[in-house]
This record gives sequence, C-alpha cells and structure tokens, in this order.
Amino acid sequence: MKPNDLDPVQHGARRARLAQAMQGGVAVIPTAPERIRNRDTHYPYRFDSHFYYLTGFPEPEAVLVIVAGAQPKSLLFCRVKDEERETWDGFRFGPQAARERFGFDESYPISDLDTKIADLLGDQPALHYPVGADPAWDARAMGWLNAVRAKARAGTSAPERVHDVRALIDEMRLVKDAHELDVMRRAAAISAVAHQRAMQAARPGRYEYELEAELLHEFRRSGAEFPAYWPIVAGGANACVLHYVSNDAMLRDGDLVLIDAGCELAGYASDITRCFPVGARFSGAQREVYELVLAAQAAAIATVRAGSGWNEPHDAAVRVLARGMLDLKLLSGTLDAALEKETYKRFYMHRTGHWLGLDVHDAGDYKRAGKWRTLAPGMVLTVEPGLYIRAADDVPERLRGIGVRIEDDVLVTGNGCEVITAATPKRIADIEALKREAIRNAG
Ligand code: GLY
Ligand code: MN
Ligand code: MN
Repeated sequence: MKPNDLDPVQHGARRARLAQAMQGGVAVIPTAPERIRNRDTHYPYRFDSHFYYLTGFPEPEAVLVIVAGAQPKSLLFCRVKDEERETWDGFRFGPQAARERFGFDESYPISDLDTKIADLLGDQPALHYPVGADPAWDARAMGWLNAVRAKARAGTSAPERVHDVRALIDEMRLVKDAHELDVMRRAAAISAVAHQRAMQAARPGRYEYELEAELLHEFRRSGAEFPAYWPIVAGGANACVLHYVSNDAMLRDGDLVLIDAGCELAGYASDITRCFPVGARFSGAQREVYELVLAAQAAAIATVRAGSGWNEPHDAAVRVLARGMLDLKLLSGTLDAALEKETYKRFYMHRTGHWLGLDVHDAGDYKRAGKWRTLAPGMVLTVEPGLYIRAADDVPERLRGIGVRIEDDVLVTGNGCEVITAATPKRIADIEALKREAIRNAG
C-alpha cells in the first residue's frame, strides 16, 4: 500500500453504503488468513478483497464489524502493538492508530472479538457475514448466535436471520468509484509497459520464463505488489493450452508468443493478453488468424456501452469468429448452423470476458433473475476473444498449432466505453514496428 492509495473517506463512504443496504443487523467481515508455504515460511500476504474494499486496512488478523441502524458504526478488530513481534515481522498499526488512520468509529484488540460480537448481536434482527466461505468462521458465527441465545431468559433476543454479506458487497464492487478507477488505470498502464518490454525481449532461442521475468520485473519496479494471476507465456502451440503456466519452453523463430499477464496494484487487477512473433514478423497464416481475432475483439468492444446486455460482447465476438472459421476452412456448413450447433466451440471454448476489479475474475453476478445483466457506467470488464487451433488431421496444415487471444480491460462509460489498456500495442503494424526497433537496438 502506497500512501496515496489509502483513502479513508472513500472507504468510510463504502461502509456507510453497506450499512444502509443491510437494512438492520450486524455485519462481520474478516480479512484473509496468512498461509504457510512450508514450515516457517509464508506465502506473500494478500488481504481479503471484500474486507479491503471496505477498510483499506492491509494487515492480517483483522475483522471489520458494521452495526447498521439510524446511526451506523464501524468497528475494527486488529492485532495489538507488540514490540517483540514487530522486531521480527514488522510494523503493525494497533487498534488506536488504526482507528485514527483508517477512520473507524471504534477499534479493539482482535482477542476481544467473540465477546464483543456476542454483545453487539443482542436484539439485532440479522447477522451478515461471508456464509460458507470458511468452515472455521461458520462455526464461530454459530458460536456467537448461541452465546446470544443463551441470554434469552435475561430478555435478550438473538438474530433470526443470517445473510451472506458478500451479496451486498459484490453489488457495490461491480460499479467502480473514482478512486478505484484511478488505481485501475494505473495498474493498466504498468501492465501495458510490461507487455511491451516482453515483446521487445522475445528472440528465437530465449525461453518463455525469460519473458515472464521481464513482466514481473516491470510490475515490481513500478510499485505493483503482485501479478494479479500467474503470467501465461506460451510460445507456439503452447498458446492452445488455455491455462498454460509452466512457461519453460524455448521460443522458436517463426512461432508466435501469447502472453496473458497483468499486475495487481494497491489491490486492483489488470488483465491483458497479447500475441506477437518471436522473430520480426507474423507469417501469412498467423496474420489471418490474428486479424480475425482482432476483428472479433473490435466487434465485441463496439457493443460495450451502458444499456447493453452482458452477453452482447460475447455474441458479437462469436459471430465474427465463427464466420472466420468458415472462411479459414476450420468449419464447414453455414454460419447459422455453426452458431446453432456451437461447432465454433472446438476453437473458441471460453467466454469473451469477466468483471475486473480487486479480483481478476471480479465480484458480481452475470445474470439476475435469469436475465443477462445490463452494463452500466463504472463497470469494468475484459474483452478477450481467442482462437485456438490444436493440431489435428482435419485442420488445414498451415493453421495447426496457432493460438491467439487478444484481451483488453474496458470501462463502461456514460456514452460508450474506454479501453483502459489501449496503450498496449495490438495492431500488427505497431507490433512489427516495435519488434523491428528492438531487433535493431539489440544490434
Ligand atoms: N488471465 C485470466 C483471464 O484472462 O481470465
Ligand atoms: Mn481475463
Ligand atoms: Mn487474461
């Protein structure tokens, strides 16, 4: 967390909105636990996205409690100051500094949580927490409810309803506020530079992991904490493996490389895919496949605007791709039959995008009451059509082993959309110019 990424006013406003949406009751939202990698070594710590969205508080062992009502209040439970632990593990805010710095109404040591919640839940209509997210928290929540029920004869009533608080937070997270969009644009800019760096570094004889290193280096040197997901660096036919992450093959002249990579900055993901030649130029067959996917992406992006249905970008991409598959002789028959029988799925088997935000596959339903959701300003989605031609006897030989995906991050605006990853080259002429320059500079 860098200082300018902390905005207690925004986080406070989100808590107030959640308190309103709860319509009474108490919400308990824990952050993520630390996870052991082996013995004394932990995985790098990453907070829980729901918790972070509402607090901006980066430490583990912390729980947010919101009490709804006419005068809602938010309480933070966190680790206490501890000189010895801080000597070993680093700074912790402690309840008092956390309350002041992050703008909570009250704060307490994490060890007070169970007692305090059992008090707070008395005479409340509902408990809201992430139901089913973690069996340990489910058991703990039942313990709180039973502790309140035990006070029945003293005249205290226990909540009758338990709600999954994530449903309310997911709805809020779906529409990004100005602070989030600022961070997401910065994350996109870092990832755009990282992709260009990898494009410039690709040469025949280098290994996929060398390009992975370029990406990770650029992310980190720019202040991004993590990759938002492990980068896919797939040379040649490896691009036809959708979740390829071994990244250990040698890059060969004449092949394309597919890179799907994005950084996470101050909690927010970016998610970009580009394909480019290992050498200087696309071959004829690669060019045909690439231009088809690029046209499908353009058709999909053209549908992204407030009021469109979630399915419209996908349907537009599928139509262009299926038409192109017929032209390339990957499929036979008519376009209508290909669409109806979904024969295109052999070469395009995934959906065209997902919500993007704190999580790379972000919170938010895609359908509501059986209908695709309508896009609204402030929503951010990826648009990522692809074509994956695995080698097979019935596939034209010149196309075998070509895999292409092109992915951008797109913000729905009042009058259309903004491609926030547009700085990443994707026209063939621009990619080849970048490669020519890189080869010239390498001497
Ligand atoms: N990189 C993950 C995705 O594109 O969905
Ligand atoms: Mn994606
Ligand atoms: Mn991706």
